[in-house]
Amino acid sequence: MAGDCDMDEMELIEEYKWLHRHPELGRQEYETTVRLKGILRENGIRLLETGLDTGAIAAIGTDGGPVVGLRCDIDALPVREETGLPYASENDGVMHACGHDFHAACMLGAALFLKEREKQLRGMVKVIFQPAEENGDGGRSVVATGLLDDVKMFYAGHTYPWLEPGTLGIRPGPVMAGADRFIIRLTGRGSHAAHPELSVDVIPAVAALVQSLQVIVSRMVSPFESAVVSVTGIRAGRTWNVIPEEAVLEGTVRTLVPTVRDSIQEQLERIAEGTARAYGCRADCDYRRGPDPVINDDAACGRAAKLAKGMGFCVVQQEPVMSSEDFSEYLSIAPGAFIRVGTGGGVDAHTPKYTVNPAALYPAAQFFAALAEAELTHQDR
Ligand code: NI
Repeated sequence: MAGDCDMDEMELIEEYKWLHRHPELGRQEYETTVRLKGILRENGIRLLETGLDTGAIAAIGTDGGPVVGLRCDIDALPVREETGLPYASENDGVMHACGHDFHAACMLGAALFLKEREKQLRGMVKVIFQPAEENGDGGRSVVATGLLDDVKMFYAGHTYPWLEPGTLGIRPGPVMAGADRFIIRLTGRGSHAAHPELSVDVIPAVAALVQSLQVIVSRMVSPFESAVVSVTGIRAGRTWNVIPEEAVLEGTVRTLVPTVRDSIQEQLERIAEGTARAYGCRADCDYRRGPDPVINDDAACGRAAKLAKGMGFCVVQQEPVMSSEDFSEYLSIAPGAFIRVGTGGGVDAHTPKYTVNPAALYPAAQFFAALAEAELTHQDR
């Protein structure tokens, strides 16, 4: 168990409030990085040289043993805050509307707790303050530093407005979706709108394609699997009396299981090409894979849940969600668990009224410190 550190509960909550007042967008987390590094250094915590402009990796413990990663994200969103909090954003139009301020404060607290126990640790904890989670590529850039190649297990937490403070959501298996983007370009032949017989009209083709894509989830995915195919944009034509030559359709695919993802990509490309051909035009499909699904390790979840209950937390298995998280980047190195931290409020993230209850912070920091320490002991066996 982690002991007391130099920062008490009120001081940690003040740090959280400072972070909330100073939100910065992905790749621009300069002030945030200076603040976090300053506190870590003041407490004698070693920082690894990442070569990245923002974010940080702290290393606490002893060499030669196993290495465990604790990860948080530090970026904010282009949302104008409407919480009315006394510590609301001072950066107009930017807001910590996804709790990354809480995550950063939580892992800062965990790092300080672990520092107090440094000599007893059976290995090394790398505490990752990741930039640009919302951009979708922050995790990749941190992983690409190679500084985490020796990590045996990763843990991360995320605020959750539908659970109250004191409750943790720990669920084995898929918990967040893989998020892909598709862009389909249909090419036909333009003409005067009065002479459709001279055209290869992409408008009926794109209309048919939107309908056909609905068949993927309703008819081609097992009812026991989860998947989303959303068409979110159609661009074609500029005026009323010209049949355009081209139409562009785009959208997103969300899946929890890699095999379902592979099969949806294949079906989407086939339907796009087949529909285009049926209307005499051509389809070029650009399918861009985003973050993989976050798939929690069963045994890691079991150990985390046991520890949490022992520390007095209420533990529930929250449902998976179809939004995505680039924590999955770390899971390409080693297994891990993405844990929901009940922060109350009942208002969804990424909205201007999103709040977290700071009462959840200190216990969460203690939990993640204890979890990392216990994991080192487990890995060291
Ligand atoms: Ni988030």
